[in-house]
Amino acid sequence: MHLRTRAIHVGNEHDPQTGAVVRPIHLAATYVQPGAGEWGEFDYARTGNPTRKALETTVASLESGVGGLAFASGMAATHCATMLLEAGDHILAGTDIYGGTYRLFKKILDRAGIEVSLAPSTDLGTFQKALRAETRLVWIESPGNPLLSITDIRACADLAHGHGALLAVDNTFATPVLTRPLELGADVVMHSATKYLGGHSDVLGGVLVVKDAELLKRLHFIQNATGGVMAPLEAFLCSRGIKTLELRVREQCRTAAALAQFLARHPRVLRVHYPGLPDHPGHQIAARQMDGAFGAIVSFEVDGLAAAKRVVQGTRLFQLAVSLGAVESLIEQPALMSHASYDRADRLAHGITDGLIRLSVGLEAPEDLQQDLEQALAKA
Ligand SMILES: Cc1ncc(COP(=O)(O)O)c(C=O)c1O
Repeated sequence: MHLRTRAIHVGNEHDPQTGAVVRPIHLAATYVQPGAGEWGEFDYARTGNPTRKALETTVASLESGVGGLAFASGMAATHCATMLLEAGDHILAGTDIYGGTYRLFKKILDRAGIEVSLAPSTDLGTFQKALRAETRLVWIESPGNPLLSITDIRACADLAHGHGALLAVDNTFATPVLTRPLELGADVVMHSATKYLGGHSDVLGGVLVVKDAELLKRLHFIQNATGGVMAPLEAFLCSRGIKTLELRVREQCRTAAALAQFLARHPRVLRVHYPGLPDHPGHQIAARQMDGAFGAIVSFEVDGLAAAKRVVQGTRLFQLAVSLGAVESLIEQPALMSHASYDRADRLAHGITDGLIRLSVGLEAPEDLQQDLEQALAKA
């Protein structure tokens, strides 16, 4: 079955009791057991819930995994994956990763005696040199945030496995519509379901998917022990969002590609970062690794902090907000918003210039979005 058919049918079978084509939202916190010391499929809502299970089943199918786990946020999902490690273990992460992941890695995991180092996952030679004997987990994102860098997932899986480490991929930006990391050798896929999976800016959630049943059991043990599970209403909303995931993502990508070309021609724009443009350094890998489109996030640079601020404050349809992946288009200035916690020197060293602007392209008409950018760029 094609992905968009599975997105509608797998995990969403009709309710056997009533015939309802949309399953009810199960709010029960606890479940009657067949006998003392006997366990049914569900017993307590932290351990398992039918509405959450439906979502986990759908996402596992879309990501070609054996099973999935849904969490209260993307960060709760990421944290659960890192709890596979023990004191003395090491995580190697790419440099172009979500700032909150960096904060968890650098400011929380160190308390548990887990060391994390960062190296550019786009440069495999340098990345390989950063592996250590204690490396148990390699963490990458592709496309990366906010520069849309492209990492070769299959090559990273080979590097990680050569060192006895697991490869985890944050697949939030690509979605399973465009990239399925487990098929490319990764062991764990993570999503901020808050973004494209939910798709409507009304859910906070996270998901892990794995292809090994034993690893799924270990992760479920950690999830149940630590408790950061997704609530039933969120799981329902997320399942509903996923039914249109492929249609949304493909259409948003089409508009993003058109806007990237428009921006590349604009005299006030110094540089456009979009893996679909032939001059993007990761274009060849992206063309191979991404399924027919290059994502719906576009970054571009104008001349300096003040000019970028005028542009992001000057749009009418693109709303000034962090987050991404929903039907409404968003605009933000990484230097002052998503990446403001970096030291300026560190930020610049990562290529995140003062004049950088990030767009999350939504589902509005492409002509309206282009006009909006045109009038805002006139203020740059
Ligand atoms: C790529 C990426 N990964 C992880 C996260 C964290 O997810 P959440 O905000 O759902 O905890 C985000 C949130 O912005 C993100 O953009």
